[in-house]
Amino acid sequence: MTGASTEESSKLWWTDAVVYQLYPRSFADSNGDGRGDLEGIRKHLDHLHAIGVNAIWLTPCFPSPQRDHGYDVADYFDIEPTYGSLDDFDRLVADAAQRSIRLLLDVVPNHCSSEHAWFQAALKAAPGSPERARYWFRDGKGPDGAEPPNNWRAIFGGPAWTRVTEADGTPGQWYLHAFTPWQPDFNWYCQDVVDYFDRMLRFWFDRGVEGFRVDAVPVLGKHPDLPDTPPAPPGLTDAQAWGRNIYGHFYETGHDVWKHWRTVIDDYERAHPGRHLVTISESYGKPEAVLAFLRGDEFHQSFAFDLMLITWLAAPMRKAISDSIDMLGPVGGTPAWTLNNHDTQRIVTRLGRLNSNDPAAFTGNNLVYVDAPIDLELGRRRARAAITLAAALPGALYLFQGEELGLEEYLDMPDAAREDPLFIRTNGKELGRDGCRVPLPWTSDATTSFGFSPVAVEPWLPQPQNWGDFSVEKEAADPQSMLSWYRILMAHRPLLSGDLVWVETGNPDCLAFERDGVLVVLNVGADAAALPAALVAGRTVILATQPDTTSQRLPSDTCVWLSTVH
Ligand code: GLC
Repeated sequence: MTGASTEESSKLWWTDAVVYQLYPRSFADSNGDGRGDLEGIRKHLDHLHAIGVNAIWLTPCFPSPQRDHGYDVADYFDIEPTYGSLDDFDRLVADAAQRSIRLLLDVVPNHCSSEHAWFQAALKAAPGSPERARYWFRDGKGPDGAEPPNNWRAIFGGPAWTRVTEADGTPGQWYLHAFTPWQPDFNWYCQDVVDYFDRMLRFWFDRGVEGFRVDAVPVLGKHPDLPDTPPAPPGLTDAQAWGRNIYGHFYETGHDVWKHWRTVIDDYERAHPGRHLVTISESYGKPEAVLAFLRGDEFHQSFAFDLMLITWLAAPMRKAISDSIDMLGPVGGTPAWTLNNHDTQRIVTRLGRLNSNDPAAFTGNNLVYVDAPIDLELGRRRARAAITLAAALPGALYLFQGEELGLEEYLDMPDAAREDPLFIRTNGKELGRDGCRVPLPWTSDATTSFGFSPVAVEPWLPQPQNWGDFSVEKEAADPQSMLSWYRILMAHRPLLSGDLVWVETGNPDCLAFERDGVLVVLNVGADAAALPAALVAGRTVILATQPDTTSQRLPSDTCVWLSTVH
């Protein structure tokens, strides 16, 4: 590792931090326009402090036409005007620091918005110009160039190419976009692009940002000649087809970019003693491929998505946990666990599905959903158990806003209200991700969108009618609520700091481990589990997700932390 020795890095703040993924558009609206903003975040920092959050990861808050809600950046050096200004951002960093909360931003290096000044200049410039060299402009195939340059499909549906009209009004070249036509891909073989992002990283570090979540990491490296990829088997979605694209997914030259970034970051740290920066990679893929970004001198962390995508069964969960830990051991890394994010159906809904423990129903893909009946109470019970397990694991823990309230996915959101390009580009075949991005409920006052806005105004996405039952105000007053549970749980997290040692219970529905002598057991079965007397003798319950738990008996879908032997 560079920057810090392996021994030092095990003590760095981010190795076991609780990080709160905050979706600014849906967190809190301070100015009454129905969209969240930075000032809304600043006013609610105490909520995050009370959960014990060490850092906030802000999903993209840069100027953007919001075709993919910020993942289409028009200017990497400013704040989206509807969210506030750079001054607001500075105030947020300062107020968060007063509560020992750090700020992480979300960098989107694979693509920008089609409204970015560079792309607009490229559209006006001629084929072969330096302006076009920053992107992937190519002539089309066929006699009049009317066919896309290759067979790549876009992750959000349709071909990965869009044809432009040249300045003289004739049909012209095509440009590549892994996602939507409003998100042209950068050409990372172009030095301008490299230099631009170096500047961007330093600009935000100078403003007090302590690191970045890095978007769509496996997509950035591309074969320089953009050859056709072997056709994907029929029946796959376009997102799955991209996953099979051998020239545009986990392509090896991406590593050159990440290695370069690490030198930029390490140099910055050396020049600013006391700063400990972190980059966390978003890469869904096989463990070896994900590990490749951590080996050597690339990212500090990569999300361990397995627990988020897994069936509710003890054996695969145990395997997912041990694989992540074992895999990182040799490179001195620690996992970054997460159970929810802005791209995935909320855990209450996922685990409430009556087939969520059926391996045959498991899609392994966060964008493709099964359609089984849902029991939300069961989902909430399991979600509470799942976070209690995840909070006990070694490594960092990334929460997604609203999970602390036990919010469910808003599946019944009217189609007309949906804004996700995934929904739009697949003509509704994929429901998309709006249902987990609904504005948060702060109070039970329905006239102000449950306290999301200061006045009566339509929120940018509609909220379910029962949202007030899950408001911060209501849950803070209820010691049994999910919010109270998160506060208690995170306060207990420092009890566990040592290595994880697996423990056998003899029950295939249970997974159990010890850390620092504390025994953590999760029972995913439909029946209560009797824990072996020899294992639990002398232990008392520290935390249990169901009230009728004892050290000997663990109810169904429950997680318990038992003390060391007295
Ligand atoms: C990542 C983001 C997702 C976004 C996509 C394109 O997967 O998490 O929200 O739509 O990249 O930037």
